[in-house]
Amino acid sequence: MNNPANFIFAACQAGAEAALRKEIPENHPELKLAFSRPGFVTFKVDPNNRLPDRYSLKSTLARTSGWSLGRAESENSAEIVASILENGAEQLAAADVIHVWERDRKVPGSGGFEPGVSVLANEVGQQVLAAMEASGKFSNKPALNRLARPDSVVFDICVVEPNQWWYGFHEANTSAGRWPGGVPMFDTDVEPISRAYFKLKEALLWSGIPVSEGDVCAELGSAPGGACQLLLEMGALVIAIDPAELEADVLKHPNLNHIRRRGHEVKKRDFRDVRWLFADISMVPNYTLDTVSAIVSHDAVNIKGMALTLKLTNWELLDSVPAWIQRVKDLGFKYVRTRQLAFNRQEICLIAAKDKFVLRAGKKRVSQPPQLQS
Ligand SMILES: C[S@@+](CC[C@H](N)C(=O)[O-])C[C@H]1O[C@@H](n2cnc3c(N)ncnc32)[C@H](O)[C@@H]1O
Repeated sequence: MNNPANFIFAACQAGAEAALRKEIPENHPELKLAFSRPGFVTFKVDPNNRLPDRYSLKSTLARTSGWSLGRAESENSAEIVASILENGAEQLAAADVIHVWERDRKVPGSGGFEPGVSVLANEVGQQVLAAMEASGKFSNKPALNRLARPDSVVFDICVVEPNQWWYGFHEANTSAGRWPGGVPMFDTDVEPISRAYFKLKEALLWSGIPVSEGDVCAELGSAPGGACQLLLEMGALVIAIDPAELEADVLKHPNLNHIRRRGHEVKKRDFRDVRWLFADISMVPNYTLDTVSAIVSHDAVNIKGMALTLKLTNWELLDSVPAWIQRVKDLGFKYVRTRQLAFNRQEICLIAAKDKFVLRAGKKRVSQPPQLQS
């Protein structure tokens, strides 16, 4: 039996495509680069290689990926839609949801740009749905740009140029695979204290780290306070560690303690009630990992899970991802994953859990803000 298609597509951050073109063939020798634009890349599958049914890319940089059926190009969008309905008929008929997104053209957070479904993408999706209905050939009525049900078939359309749309499909078998274009769906019109608010929100959704009311959380590198703002909204008790000043609104919150020091200067016993550890330090990844290692390996500390932002001062640092993962596993975290979040800039997120089950399990509650020694 053949593969479902001859190509694989992957969406990524604008500017990450060169690193993605290197990463994918390294992890998947069966794939060769085919097409590349900022934010969108395709790979040709070795035709002699029958891939497993539940084939999925091993990648830190791919936001979402799937089988690529090709592109349709015209100045007349009705012609593009007709071509997709003809060549993608089988997959459209099986689809539970259609995800339409525009490739990123800017780095998230620059020039006011934040990733997510655009007005144009929604219009394209509406046009495809209307054409499906008008054709009378489809008994299904897929939803548009909704959270896909686990394991359902998603029909993907990436608007690479307004007159050039690429289309394909995937099975929604990962948390990010359920989001249109691999971007979580939440309101980015709000103006948090910092973009770290969005980064942490996405990290929690992606990883399943179940921060709950009363959980003690610590963040290394917490100024000005966007991530703390989110944790406080979630009812967590927050230890914010940063030599810099926090924004007044989070600083005065009764559930926040600010330790105005660098991470390695904080007494390790101050982490004894901490359940979830976050780090967003403006230093190289090994500095963050050194600081975190000294904390989590202390006898008095029992951290269940972490989400660490690792800054990529250059893209070559990505070669160290396997070593970073191993380092964290050696600290006793069995479940470790990396991903360039949609809301990351030139950085990645590493999440770690002592066991996969802690990502969903019930929690021990601490009802009072912890007493600190530092
Ligand atoms: C990207 S900002 C953090 C943004 C923050 N997470 C938020 O939610 O707004 C990086 C921070 O790392 C802090 N930093 C640098 N070195 C540090 C260290 N050794 N320990 C703790 N914080 C550090 C800086 O002062 C800076 O505020």
